[in-house]
Amino acid sequence: MDQHLGMNRTGIDMSPILIKKMMHVDEDIPTTTNGATTKSTIEDFFLENAEPLGSVPLPGTAKSMIKTVIKMASGKHPEVFINKLGERLAYERTGVRVYEQLIAKCLHSPNDLSPDVQLPIDKLEEFRRQEEEHFELLADCLKQIGADPTAQTPDADASGVAASGLMKVISDPRTSISQSLQAMLAIEMADNAAWELLMKLAEDMHMTDMASRFQHALEQEDVHLRHIRQWYEESVRSQAKMAAMK
Ligand SMILES: [Fe+2]
Repeated sequence: MDQHLGMNRTGIDMSPILIKKMMHVDEDIPTTTNGATTKSTIEDFFLENAEPLGSVPLPGTAKSMIKTVIKMASGKHPEVFINKLGERLAYERTGVRVYEQLIAKCLHSPNDLSPDVQLPIDKLEEFRRQEEEHFELLADCLKQIGADPTAQTPDADASGVAASGLMKVISDPRTSISQSLQAMLAIEMADNAAWELLMKLAEDMHMTDMASRFQHALEQEDVHLRHIRQWYEESVRSQAKMAAMK
């Protein structure tokens, strides 16, 4: 079970005597300089002077391939497509790792969930394999247009940072399968939307073969999302039922 009553001391009610002191804001403490807080001044400086989050690498080889893409795209910007392909590639690699973590958690926490919501390991392994296939598909597509699949694109960097908190939840040995499923749900929802966008981008670029390969990946991601969502809901509802029976 995820929830149990214990010695949790994080709430304000644990120290009724100190509540008033904590809620009191000392008006003598200066928080502003000329109307702007010091924090805000520092933030403003960085917002005004920040460099972009990296750049999309130029294709080091196969320049003719990228030229072909540009020609086919007729005025479209292949660097946007490369940026998004690189992002998805990094995300799918993370997808393989999160499924491996979840499988390990299921194997080592057999009593975490009630028996009726045990996760099927074979299904998780199937999803893990598909995430790996998607990673390979994206590496193949990047090579096909003359881009380097080993380069980290700016959006790969940003989405990696965004997913890092979710990864931490899943890889933390103290978190339950239910808590991990909640993080997985966020990952799969973002993944699903991203594949749909990638498919549209490929269509915009008139790359119909790629678009149909992405459509196939999206159909598999749809199945992942449906299962994760269902398992997560079942795990929480069964906990609520078990808690009510106590
Ligand atoms: Fe997935």
